[in-house]
Amino acid sequence: MKLRVLSGALMLGLLSTHSINAASIYAGQARAAAVCSQCHGIKTPSADAPFPPLAGRDFAYLKLALEQYRDKTRKNDLMNAIAGSLSDDDIANVAAYYAGLKP
Ligand code: HEC
Repeated sequence: MKLRVLSGALMLGLLSTHSINAASIYAGQARAAAVCSQCHGIKTPSADAPFPPLAGRDFAYLKLALEQYRDKTRKNDLMNAIAGSLSDDDIANVAAYYAGLKP
């Protein structure tokens, strides 16, 4: 079941454009739940969490930050490693997902 949801989200991700739409938010949610939330939390990170909150942040900001981690113009060992495996669609999708969450 979980796998089917994930592969469905992946296919939507492939079809999606680089704008905010339902498909990209859905695909971003699947990836975020699988990877990002381990550090960033789903919504409200605890006050002592060392990871910046992402919910409700600006779509363009999140997208740019991830692109900069991926090409290592912004350096952080953890995020460079994680963003290195993200495609353009992945980045747009997770940015759309987190931008759409209430902070
Ligand atoms: C292993 C822990 C970890 C995971 C998993 C992780 N991150 Fe991060 N993330 C961090 C840390 C630590 C920072 C702060 C790095 C810095 O100071 O630049 C960060 C920073 C960020 C920022 C910049 C926020 C800002 O305020 O500028 C974004 C955007 C981001 N992460 C997105 C993601 C996304 C999307 C995923 C999933 C694909 C993800 N992260 C997975 C640890 C993690």
